[in-house]
Amino acid sequence: MHCNWGLLAWLLASNVIASETNGVDTTDIQLVSSLNENSLAHLQTDEESIDHYDVKRKEDQESFEHAAHILRQFQALSAKKTGSKSKNSSPIRTYRDIATLIPKAVRPYVKGMAQLVARTFGLTDRVGEKYINKPRRSQPQEVQQAIRTIKTLAIAGHEDALFMLAEMEMYGKYMTKIDLDSAFEHYRQLADISGNATAQYMLGFFYATGLGSVEQQNSMALLYTTLAAIQGHHPAEVTLASKHLTGIGVPMSCEKALGYYQSVARSAILYFQSGPILGHHIPDQRLRLSDDNGGTYGVRTGPFSLHKLIDKSSFDELLLYHMQDAQKGHLKTCMTLVDLFYHGHRFAPRNYPLALEYLQQVLKQLMTDHGTPRKGLSQAETSIAAQAAGMYGIMHLRGEGTPVNTATALKWLNTGAKMGHGVSCNALGVMYRDGIEVPANQERAIELFKLAADRGHHGGQVNFALAVMDIMPEIARENLKKAADNGHILAHFYLAELYAGLAAGESRCQMAVASYKYVSEYGDWLHSPIPSAYADFQQGELDAAALKYMQAAEMGYGVGQLNAALLLEAAAKRIDAAGKKSTTSTEMWSLFKTRKAHLRQTLAYWTRAANSNMPDARVKQGDHYYYGVGVEQDAERAAAAYVVASEADANGLAMWNLGWMYENGIGVKRDFYLAKRWFDKSIEVNEGGKLANHLSLARLCIKYLWAWLRGEDVGESPLFFAPRPVTAEEEKMAQAKAKRHGTQDAGNADAQKQRAGHLGDDDWERRAKALDADDADVNDEDADQDDESLSGNLFFVILFLAAGWMFLPMR
Ligand SMILES: *[C@@H]1O[C@H](CO)[C@@H](O)[C@H](O)[C@H]1NC(C)=O
Repeated sequence: MHCNWGLLAWLLASNVIASETNGVDTTDIQLVSSLNENSLAHLQTDEESIDHYDVKRKEDQESFEHAAHILRQFQALSAKKTGSKSKNSSPIRTYRDIATLIPKAVRPYVKGMAQLVARTFGLTDRVGEKYINKPRRSQPQEVQQAIRTIKTLAIAGHEDALFMLAEMEMYGKYMTKIDLDSAFEHYRQLADISGNATAQYMLGFFYATGLGSVEQQNSMALLYTTLAAIQGHHPAEVTLASKHLTGIGVPMSCEKALGYYQSVARSAILYFQSGPILGHHIPDQRLRLSDDNGGTYGVRTGPFSLHKLIDKSSFDELLLYHMQDAQKGHLKTCMTLVDLFYHGHRFAPRNYPLALEYLQQVLKQLMTDHGTPRKGLSQAETSIAAQAAGMYGIMHLRGEGTPVNTATALKWLNTGAKMGHGVSCNALGVMYRDGIEVPANQERAIELFKLAADRGHHGGQVNFALAVMDIMPEIARENLKKAADNGHILAHFYLAELYAGLAAGESRCQMAVASYKYVSEYGDWLHSPIPSAYADFQQGELDAAALKYMQAAEMGYGVGQLNAALLLEAAAKRIDAAGKKSTTSTEMWSLFKTRKAHLRQTLAYWTRAANSNMPDARVKQGDHYYYGVGVEQDAERAAAAYVVASEADANGLAMWNLGWMYENGIGVKRDFYLAKRWFDKSIEVNEGGKLANHLSLARLCIKYLWAWLRGEDVGESPLFFAPRPVTAEEEKMAQAKAKRHGTQDAGNADAQKQRAGHLGDDDWERRAKALDADDADVNDEDADQDDESLSGNLFFVILFLAAGWMFLPMR
């Protein structure tokens, strides 16, 4: 059997690679259907036995339904019990609380010292410490019985049971243990008998990553993923698209990527438009797990790494404060709350009725009973009134928190539109375009869309563009581009369709792919494993979460790559720690057969995350090379990674590492001058690491003098006396980089949410900070980046000199 598959894999793989159409080839399809016919032949029975067969099947189906029902109930129940873990506040918070007692000038040093001490004694391994697996309880009798039933049915070849069993073993559902090899076997059986696309996709995933005892094999991965993709399995399509785009495990091919992304994007848009008027809400933001810890390393490492996200307790505090404020009749706060409850936040789920209530409060204050603005409103009040009216109309149009009521919607949208509110104009335009509650009137619709577009409403820009596409294609395209620049999903989609329809040419493909990719990643209602991964993570099902983030990583999600790497790394630490305690720990690598495979895959995800511009990932990649984790030790490659991280991301940690390598001549030629330069730069971007940097500089100084006294080669430039001025060229480069980073944060859903016009997590963090404004200089980790020169800190340098000599070989 195996050898047949190998041959088939080879045949198909070469076939797939050779085919020039958009990934879907008729020969592929023929092969698949012949495969299915073969498998079906197994199931065909003699005429006489058909009756018996039917009865048996019915019985089987009934016992399956029963068992599945019990298991699902159990699943739902245990999910409820654990709920989301309450996150204990982090050490940084504690630091904030005592920081007021410390004079400002000394604060960075105290903080640095605390971090250094904590790290030395392994106290701040927050990333590892926080990630604790949920303990396995024994299952109730009933559940055990249900699992036995499922197993029996699976052995008899019941497809649904096989699938359920495989999923259970894959993700450790229903309090069972993960058993990847058995899951693999069951997916394989299912794929064999029914050609089930999900099973094929999972097999592809196994082969692509080398999970369990499976050998990593790109040709097999390609085979199975393609088989699934041909059947329109979206995760498989996205995986293939992303692989072809980046050339991971397959030849790079824009055209193939285009075909798969196009198919997924079209389904996504169909789904989007199948929602209420104006479309489904965009899926929730995708969190980088590192953000909860204030970064991959638990510290802010540079201008492009994220702030620590707001934690639950501060959020609750803030919410309470806002609600009290709203009760006092503060209109702006009311609107903030409307926004919060309408869109939801990870600590405050969507709540339409509450949003409506706040809206009504605002309307009552600002509007007359006839739905016109009261006399004598200030400009700010007028704008709030318009917003509230529009929002109220839209919620009635879409039936959110209230039954659909197009008459009320029309009334309030008219009010909003009259007051020049873009959202209202667009929605009203849609009503005229489609003849909802009013007779259809294209001219009026276009007028309204234009109004909305002129007010900078992205939905309006798209609708206007679509309406005038045939008469004024140039203007239409311009409007689409504007909306696409602001991340509007429909704008990207129609642009992609435009590009894809153009005559062949490499840049056409690139442009189309970029937009389709955006649609399929941003509008991933139908295929994203990330929400489920995050839910597992919150319930302490870390291995399941890791497996799902790995799937997301294979689909090309930057967030998936980062989170997978993070969880795999934490798992390695956990397993190592457990291994030290127990003596019988050779078979503890739950996801991979060997430690080596585990670490190799971790490095692979750090590398891909780095290529997706995730903060700190490049430094992690360097660390792997530096320490030889999951790869041959290679100081030169480590240095190369640090250089990239330093120059492209201005990562303070990477700069420090680089300085250290130059100081000691590891992976690079020893060069005191460059060492000093990197330490200096590191101070600039990374205030938290000030102490470590100054200690390093002190040590560097001593080493320099020592080497100089012994007559060694210390380079030419004088080290500590005249810092080299920054050349104009360097400055220009720095500016260009900053700009690139500003515009290129595609993975950051927060930014997109803001572009879509409402508050993201960052805003809430900012609000929290503003609330503590009294001790503002305490908690702004990066606000007071005072440019103190080395001489200004000479005192500390001397003070910590001795300590530095001892401590600093470690980071
Ligand atoms: C695969 O089989 C399972 C169980 O029969 C089913 O729920 C699932 O939808 C199937 N997947 C596809 C893509 O058909």
